[in-house]
Amino acid sequence: MTDVFGLSHKDQTRHEQVVFCADDKSGLYAIIAIHNTALGPGLGGTRFYPYPDESAALADVLNLSRAMAYKNALAGLDHGGGKAVIIGDPATDKSEALLRAYGRFVQSLGGRYYTAADVGTYSEDMDVIARESSYVTGRTVANGGAGDSSILTAYGVYQGMRAAAHHAFGATSLRGRRVGVEGVGKVGHRLVEHILAEGGEVVVCDVDERAVDRVRQRHPEVEAVADSAALKRSDLDVYAPCALGGALDDTAVAELRAKIVCGGANNQLAHPGVEKQLADRGILYAPDYLVNSGGVIQVADEIAGFDMDRARARTAQIFDTTLKIFAIADDEGVPPAVAADRLAERRMSEVGRLRAIWPGR
Ligand SMILES: NC(=O)c1ccc[n+]([C@@H]2O[C@H](COP(=O)([O-])OP(=O)(O)OC[C@H]3O[C@@H](n4cnc5c(N)ncnc54)[C@H](O)[C@@H]3O)[C@@H](O)[C@H]2O)c1
Repeated sequence: MTDVFGLSHKDQTRHEQVVFCADDKSGLYAIIAIHNTALGPGLGGTRFYPYPDESAALADVLNLSRAMAYKNALAGLDHGGGKAVIIGDPATDKSEALLRAYGRFVQSLGGRYYTAADVGTYSEDMDVIARESSYVTGRTVANGGAGDSSILTAYGVYQGMRAAAHHAFGATSLRGRRVGVEGVGKVGHRLVEHILAEGGEVVVCDVDERAVDRVRQRHPEVEAVADSAALKRSDLDVYAPCALGGALDDTAVAELRAKIVCGGANNQLAHPGVEKQLADRGILYAPDYLVNSGGVIQVADEIAGFDMDRARARTAQIFDTTLKIFAIADDEGVPPAVAADRLAERRMSEVGRLRAIWPGR
């Protein structure tokens, strides 16, 4: 089998469709990947990032679109997994023409893929793309969109944390629990608000001092530590990674003093096997793509005409799904991350199969 961009044929064929989109004049070079549409059209954001080459971009979009299939399945959405990457530096390469050219490619897929914001793209960019495509969500509130998805992302993480507390401590309340939040950006700072409102104690860290200052100005009782290593070594009940991926590597797991890991960051486990190391140390891991699915729930709701109350109610169900995952993990003797994958695969298979029944016109 011929390899494309250094990826094995096996990796490529796991995806239903991969589309390369180029428009030289505007500088657009994008890849849209649809992992599967078993549950409905692919849904996932557009990442605008200066990848070193096409192979890095392709590897990323294949991984991310697969991850979206699992996330959307567990979130109970009627969406499959899709994702897109635009290769370039958003600070210098983003333009109206480029975004609109990209929108025309999204449109050309006829609704098999819905896009939204991701790293390097914002609701305002979705407004521009939406001028060329009907298959765009996560637009600004002014344009009838769901706006900043970190609102329900943080709320969902909070619900997952309550479920984890129930499983680990026998009580959902975070009152008196000490929670370490790594990264107090859009998601992290909102999560801090939820924890404090329930009477929890919060310790934070962030590489950006201004982010820490913003939180401490509002809430002087919040403690700050120097960096993520110090946070992980702190005396915590819950560790909430809300910065970048890969927060949990071998060293972190060995040093972690928290009983629960539950945060908003994507791809928290640095490599396969970390989920088992956590379980072996008696640390309860709430799977990242489950607890951080509030954002995609928020933008998916926009497709039917956005209703924040409905989206919030649906996000609150992350509490029940998290409990269910822990129960499956206990019953089947596997880490929660494995149980989450199994539940997502079961839904894709059981509900996806129904599309074979012809309902008539
Ligand atoms: N925004 C959403 O709706 C959403 C949805 C799902 C998942 N996520 C994930 O949640 C995470 C946070 O997203 P966000 O939207 O809040 O991003 P953000 O950029 O607003 O915030 C991230 C924060 O982490 C800080 N940070 C970066 N590296 C750090 C480090 N090593 N130690 C401590 N702090 C560090 C940054 O300074 C920043 O303040 C990301 O992994 C993102 O993929 C976000």
